[in-house]
Order: sequence, then structure tokens, then C-alpha cells
Amino acid sequence: MLAEQEIIARFCEAGHLVDPTVVSYLRERGDPALISGILAGIRKDCAVVLPSHIPSLTPKRDGIRFTADPLLEVVEGMEGSAGPVRQIEDYVSLFRNRYDCLGSLIRKRSGAIPIEALTHSSRFRDSEVTIIGIVIDVKSTAKGHRILELEDPTGTMPVLFNNGRDGFSDAERIVPDEVIGVRGKPSPEGKLFYADQLFRPDVPVQHAPYTPKNSGKVALISDIHIGSDTFLQEPWERFCDWISGADDISYLLVAGDLVDGIGIYPGQEKELTIPNIYEQYDRLGEMLQTLPSSLGIVLAPGNHDVVRGAEPQPVIPPEFRSQYPKNCTFVENPAAVSIHGARVLMYHGRSIDDLIGMIPGARYEAPAEMMEAMLKRRHLAPTYGRRTPVLATEKDRLLIDPVPEILHTGHVHITGISRYRGVLAVNAGAWQSQTAFQKQMNINPTPGQAVVVDLEQMEPQIYDFLS
Ligand SMILES: [Fe+2]
Ligand SMILES: [Fe+2]
Repeated sequence: MLAEQEIIARFCEAGHLVDPTVVSYLRERGDPALISGILAGIRKDCAVVLPSHIPSLTPKRDGIRFTADPLLEVVEGMEGSAGPVRQIEDYVSLFRNRYDCLGSLIRKRSGAIPIEALTHSSRFRDSEVTIIGIVIDVKSTAKGHRILELEDPTGTMPVLFNNGRDGFSDAERIVPDEVIGVRGKPSPEGKLFYADQLFRPDVPVQHAPYTPKNSGKVALISDIHIGSDTFLQEPWERFCDWISGADDISYLLVAGDLVDGIGIYPGQEKELTIPNIYEQYDRLGEMLQTLPSSLGIVLAPGNHDVVRGAEPQPVIPPEFRSQYPKNCTFVENPAAVSIHGARVLMYHGRSIDDLIGMIPGARYEAPAEMMEAMLKRRHLAPTYGRRTPVLATEKDRLLIDPVPEILHTGHVHITGISRYRGVLAVNAGAWQSQTAFQKQMNINPTPGQAVVVDLEQMEPQIYDFLS
């Protein structure tokens, strides 16, 4: 196995810095000859060694694309696919499906043995092995190490990450219910597993986004909150005027909280200018009627919308849609939308609240870091049972598979952009100024902004309509 410091030192001696993705790739492979191969192929004046410098690692797209992709297609999360509330037993299928899908992504990079091979036999007691499972519990010990319980279909195993080992900061970010692989050695009695290395399903290092030609631009927004007394009417109108004249923008995607809703939190009625839920949706529909009919608009629900809160959330029902023009497409939360073949994964982002509460150093001001946390775990809401309600479904609809070109979220009302292994992560802000609740929580929103992405270049740009 290669240690992190050893890899960094080898590149440093040759006069190069090294990207953390390259370090984790080399650690996973554990082959020192790979470092020599990279060094042989790069120029002497190369400042930072990037994944593109790894020989034989050719850029690859994830998932199938077709040459004749329609302009706009709902690939996942079309009306009617969320299904009704099911039986409690279906949670078994949900977590089994999560384990199977994410476990197989890890298994592609590291062969693994079932946990029962450690608990029921002594064959592997002296060997370095990998096990893969769902984290059913995780906590820190009195001495600051990290201990977790890992479960696969054959058994459970306590796993210890020593805080003096390489990559401990990754272990500090392990959250309950995520699927991970760990490489290390079992204790002599087979009752504890000493972990040296952590594997997440992650986005492949060689992932390359699909960039459709002549596809124009897409505007990403979220959290309009029509009906709230903090809805920003004037910036919204400026945005509508602007997008009506922006001929190169062909699509407008909205990632939930279309309206402020009713009964979402105690005392909300005092903060509503439109107290009727039908009228809230009608008002948004009337506003969208003023936009060009050539603009493809995609509308997903969020936790303030009229549908059930458990995810996947169904589309806004027809009785609320009478005022909406024909160019509006209603989708579920989450939903995957293909635009000229580029896949945009829309998710409202409720789980960001949970991730911020569990990941050390996480802040509301940096929501894109939480989107990276989702991409690493290949899951939109890894932890069950906190603030993100998740429905029992046969298949886990919150998996990130295949890898999208763009991950589009909202919910925290703060704009954030990041690029992680070729995926553009955009948390769109809101059209609502700071609410009393946000003030109490010391959350400072960045309202009145739209993020426009040129699909051919995958380049984002923030437009501000606040002033
Ligand atoms: Fe919101
Ligand atoms: Fe929200």
C-alpha cells in the first residue's frame, strides 16, 4: 500500500505539486510503478500533476447517450413514477438496492470479501482485505479515533479508523447509512477491523462531461417562494424581463420551493401575502405566461410545495397547474432531465441540512461543498431519519447513477458553484430575502441570482438581479 506522504514526497522531489484526486487514485491502486510512469510522461515545468497526466486513463462519459437526443427529455422523475406510500418492509428493499448499486461501484476498484468470511473463519485474519457495507452507526472514541459499524448482507463488523493514519480526515466525514469500502486487517480474534483506507463509490477520476454542440444555454434557479411577504417581486420581474430578451437561453430549470406553501412551519400564516395555496400556484403560472413560449421551463417541487415531503416527491398535481403555459414541464424531486443529451440532475437539496450538521467544517455559506459530498457518496440524501424524509421504495431513487453533467440543487437560498471531477454542481439561490427563521439561524441568503450555463462549454455564470 502507498502512503499519502510517500506519494506527495515522490512528486515533490521531482519538483511538482500533486492534485489530491491523483493522490487518492494512486493510494487505491497501491502500485509505486504508476508514479514513475506519471513522472516519465510529464514536462519538467509542470506545476501540478492532474488526473489528466495519469497514463492510460482516458476520459470517459458515464451512462448511455444517443446521437439523436431529443431537445428536452425527462429521463427520471416524470409524472407518476414516484408511486404511493408503501409498506414499512419496503425499506429493506430500498437499503438492499442502495448497497447493491453503490457496493458494485466500489467493487470495480477494489475486490472485497463478505463480512461473514471474517467472522466465521480465520482464513483472512492475517491478510489485508477489503469489506464493503452500509454504515449503520458511526462515532468518535474518547481518544479521537473513529469507530463505526459496517453491515453487508452477511453480517456486521466494527471498524476502527486510527486518527494517526493517512486519510483520517475522510473517515471523520463518514455519515450514517452511506455505503463505503474499507481496506485493512481484522484483529486476531476477528472481532474488530483495523481500517487503513476508505473507498467511496465516488465519481470516476476519468469522468468527462458530455457537451452537446449548438445547444445554447440553460438558466438554473430555485426557491421562488411565491406568496411569502419576503418574496422579491422587483428582482423577479427584472429577471423575467431579462430572460425574455436573452435569445441564447433555451431552458429555465427550477429546483423546488416554487411557492411558500401553507402550514410549513408554526406561524407561517403571518408571513404570507397570498394565504391560499391555489392562488400561490396560479400567481406563479401567470408570471410564467409572460415568458417566451419558446423557453422550455422545468418545475420540480421542494419542501414548501403542496406535495408530500417524503422523497421522491411527486410532481405538482394537475389541480394546481391550470394557469401554467404549455412550455412548462412538471417533474418530481429528484428528477433527471436530458437537454440535447446533457444530463441535469435536479434535486431540491433538503439533505444539505443533514450533511451540514454531520460533516466537520461544513457551512451553509458553502453549499457546493455539500453537493461534492453527495457526488462522492453517489447519493443525494445518504443519511436516513434526520430532517430529510425518504419514502420506502423498491429502488433507491436518490442514487446518483449515472453521473450527470450538472447537479442542480437549491433549498439553502445561497448560490454556490463547484466543479467536482467533471461534474458542474450548482446550488441556485432564492427569490426571497432573509426570513425570520434564517435570521434566527444566522443564515445570510444570496437572493435574486440566476446561474446560466453554456452547455457546449459547461461554463457557469452568475447574473444578479437584486439591484
Ligand atoms: Fe426554499
Ligand atoms: Fe426548501
